[in-house]
Amino acid sequence: MSATTRPAQRTLGTSGPVTSALGLGCMGMSDMYGPADEAESIATIHAALDSGVTLLDTGDFYGMGHNELLIHEALRGRDRASVQISVKFGAQRGPDGQWLGYNASPAATKTALAYTLRRLRTDYVDVYRPARLDPDVPIEETVGAIADLVKAGHVRHIGLSEVGADTLRRAAAVHPISDLQIEYSLLSRSIEAAILPTARELGIGITAYGVLSRGLLSGRWNPDRTLADTDLRGHSPRFQGDNLAHNLALVEALREIAAANDATVAQLAVAWVASRGQDVVPLVGARRRDRLAEALGALDVTLSPAHLAAIDAAFPAGAAAGDRYAAAQMTSLDSER
Ligand SMILES: NC(=O)c1ccc[n+]([C@@H]2O[C@H](COP(=O)([O-])OP(=O)(O)OC[C@H]3O[C@@H](n4cnc5c(N)ncnc54)[C@H](OP(=O)(O)O)[C@@H]3O)[C@@H](O)[C@H]2O)c1
Repeated sequence: MSATTRPAQRTLGTSGPVTSALGLGCMGMSDMYGPADEAESIATIHAALDSGVTLLDTGDFYGMGHNELLIHEALRGRDRASVQISVKFGAQRGPDGQWLGYNASPAATKTALAYTLRRLRTDYVDVYRPARLDPDVPIEETVGAIADLVKAGHVRHIGLSEVGADTLRRAAAVHPISDLQIEYSLLSRSIEAAILPTARELGIGITAYGVLSRGLLSGRWNPDRTLADTDLRGHSPRFQGDNLAHNLALVEALREIAAANDATVAQLAVAWVASRGQDVVPLVGARRRDRLAEALGALDVTLSPAHLAAIDAAFPAGAAAGDRYAAAQMTSLDSER
């Protein structure tokens, strides 16, 4: 995509905001994938905004507030109203980054938002969502607390993350839900069975994360890459040994189709997610400008029915080897129950 082309827009569900057809996930700029360069991260956010990307996704626990402070820095001097900021909360972490569970009680929900607004130096967030279902708090209570924040003007829309079809229904009975944020890629298609149809029935959009399967679908993953201790891919089942070899072999099937579309493998992977429907907005986790430019190029790729069928055949649901998270984290996924 040239720097002057603006990405098309999509609406998040029937009740959500209009956003760019592709969003920027900022997590890797502060956390999860080893060290990131702060100046390059801010330059990447600027490049995204200048290219017409308006949706920025973050979480208060990404770098324990660092990600929100980074976004504040990047948005300095920009028009707040032209950007949609989507924030996750609820994950509890200690000063050394250790994971301490989830808290999405009404009091914790409201307290977390108060701190988020201070870090972002704004008086509202566009979409606010619990990162995971809190097993000790009925979803009705969490959504009810966010609905209070909507009424008070601090939150524009309510989202959810990694929840299953039943939880979607219970939440939507309390307040309209704009979108479900959930992993969706050629290697992670489990939402297609029940979650996606339910979301569609309820008018809930999808913000798809992990569209590049954290780099596996980039077409450039080097199995010999040395990962920092803080890089979760060092513990992710899909990046280990035989699983990694199996998954990278699947990705090879994309090269020919990518070449036929004058696209890269990464662009094909993003374009496939974008092709799932107007209600799906892929989030890309670029933390460098060159990666962002590549991902944006996916919006210029229109896959033919024949190419879509070939991709489908190469990546049937369940084709990936290994779970999408390590065992301890799988247990917190309501979406996988
Ligand atoms: N709701 C949830 O539970 C949840 C969970 C995870 C993420 N998220 C959100 O979704 C966003 C995206 O997720 P993700 O970062 O895991 O997904 P991703 O886009 O699948 O993976 C991003 C990683 O892929 C690699 N990559 C290679 N080529 C790339 C390219 N052209 N463009 C972008 N990345 C490329 C980069 O690794 P290197 O930089 O190391 O090369 C990058 O860090 C996150 O930033 C976060 O906001 C939400």
